[in-house]
Amino acid sequence: GKENINIENDTDELEKLKEKVLKCKKCRLAETRHNVVFGEGNPKTNLMFIGEAPGEQEDLQGRPFVGRAGQLLTRFLNLFGIERERVYITNIVKCRPPKNRNPQPDEIKTCYPYLNKQIEIIKPKVILCLGAFAARTVLNLPEKTPISKIRGQEFKVKDYIVIPTFHPAYLLRNRRGETDFQRDLEVALRIAGMI
Ligand code: URA
Repeated sequence: GKENINIENDTDELEKLKEKVLKCKKCRLAETRHNVVFGEGNPKTNLMFIGEAPGEQEDLQGRPFVGRAGQLLTRFLNLFGIERERVYITNIVKCRPPKNRNPQPDEIKTCYPYLNKQIEIIKPKVILCLGAFAARTVLNLPEKTPISKIRGQEFKVKDYIVIPTFHPAYLLRNRRGETDFQRDLEVALRIAGMI
């Protein structure tokens, strides 16, 4: 049926984009990375997660959010009965910055079109931005905007609802953020129609 054709188109387009991104050498991060971390999950999902950049484990495995922070994210999803394969997970920047330094403005500028294309192909209802970095970039907010000021708010951007929340790595250091994180995730899952 029509829906199946559409699934194949989305998957094909995303696979084509992935092939291109895996070969990317547009910025200096290509020189130090082990693997490009394109992103993974269900291309038909209503819910997309956007993090900052791959860390050490992600760089080694070529998969997003598979280190300690990622395992915490997966546990929170499981808390709501959601397997991580049902959502789509990616980052602002697809290659690991050396020693996990912040991605630099020119690196973000160069990489951002890939994320934009992913969003256009997947067309999620909700985008959950993990951390200040993702939130500021996706929402085009001033550099110093504190995540505590904007987390949990629902921003309408084009056809998407963008919700900033804490980065799971922040929760590893500040367990008090877990209640807010869980609430933001629940709101996102509800809007996405997944719970
Ligand atoms: N932190 C991120 O922002 N992204 C990952 O993929 C892993 C850790």
